[in-house]
Amino acid sequence: MSKINLAKQLGEQLPSDIIDFIQKAGEAAEKRQQRLYVVGGVVRDLLLDRCNTDLDLVVEGDAIKLAQAIAASKKASTTVHTRFGTANLKWASRSVDFITARAENYARPGALPTVNPGSIHDDLSRRDFTVNSMAIELNPRHYGELIDPFNGRQDLDKKLVRILHKKSFSDDATRIWRAIRYEQRLDFKIESETLRLIKRDIKMLETVSGDRIRHELELVFKEETPEKQLARAAELGVLEALHPSLRADDWQAETFAAAREKNLPDPTPSPLYLALLCYRLNEKELEQLIKYLRLTKTTAQVLRDTLAIREKTQELAAPGLAPSIVYHLLHGYSAAAYIANSIGSDSETASEHIELYLSVLRHVKPALSGKDLEKLGVPIGPEIKDVLQKLREARLDGRIGTKGEEEEMVRGLSL
Ligand code: CTP
Repeated sequence: MSKINLAKQLGEQLPSDIIDFIQKAGEAAEKRQQRLYVVGGVVRDLLLDRCNTDLDLVVEGDAIKLAQAIAASKKASTTVHTRFGTANLKWASRSVDFITARAENYARPGALPTVNPGSIHDDLSRRDFTVNSMAIELNPRHYGELIDPFNGRQDLDKKLVRILHKKSFSDDATRIWRAIRYEQRLDFKIESETLRLIKRDIKMLETVSGDRIRHELELVFKEETPEKQLARAAELGVLEALHPSLRADDWQAETFAAAREKNLPDPTPSPLYLALLCYRLNEKELEQLIKYLRLTKTTAQVLRDTLAIREKTQELAAPGLAPSIVYHLLHGYSAAAYIANSIGSDSETASEHIELYLSVLRHVKPALSGKDLEKLGVPIGPEIKDVLQKLREARLDGRIGTKGEEEEMVRGLSL
């Protein structure tokens, strides 16, 4: 069969500094009698006309030495992982991974694989899906040649996510989440045998550590519309394996879309998505999930705060609440927990009170400082805090508005 050459597509789709880099890297590999390939996502996306500059380069031979040789000639820095035979090279704003071509063996399901050096074919054979198991050679004599042992290009045309062998999901059940991500992101279908094996191997998700599942979930939250991935995960019983009380229904989709409308940093922060996903859990269920996913203290706090605010919905839903009451109900929680509640709350009034707190009330402070109060004769000690509190309340409720009025109020207090 004649070889397909993608040199032209590479030149058209990748920025010129990257082309320059991969050509020089190919020459450097040739000099060292190594073979160098770009693999995985960049190849897939090149054939799909999607922009992707996250280069993964596979080297037949020692990837670390090649990366170091290239870095030395390019004012680039490298970070090396000797145990995995990988190196990350950074220059300007670019980051490239160099990976020693390897053959993998899984000692038991869910374990990290044992790794031995191998050929590009071995390396492609250990990968997840046919569309991710293609490579393009970079050595000058073969520059641009596509290596596609599993007919990934054909599956791209057919829009199919297909595993390479029957043990793929039992070797590494995180691939179940990956299959869902690619299917929904690319608007593909999971191929029927692959789908059957997902259903068969769902229980293998139990063999995977919570840390790895959390990582998969974070990747889902980085997708353009994570609700689509979650809905598919729910349909396949994968979300249930995460926690049986999680749901991915219309409410979930609407709240995720609303989160993206909030003009937050792009992409929408994953703790906010997570808070919305957990919004309908009870405290016990939430604690189970926090423990399983080994969430950081900060993220766990966001989730606990979200539920704590949700518990106050009824109080916050009362119309005409004094601003000082709103302030006291809402003071002291994590930023994402407010947003999750303003989106998730079933009371419009409660949402409005949260918005008011975020935009105005939380910024209200007395003009007088503790030192000013001392000068006005307030005894040093807890009284200072009490008086500052009273001043803030009076300001919040519009009873005073200037420094002079604050001073007058302090003088009028019986201390
Ligand atoms: N890979 C795999 N099994 C996994 C994780 C990764 O086989 N559990 C392989 C795939 O070949 C994948 C490559 O490693 O293409 C790089 O992984 P990753 O960076 O996660 O994926 P990308 O293909 O770059 O896709 P994305 O666009 O999602 O980053």
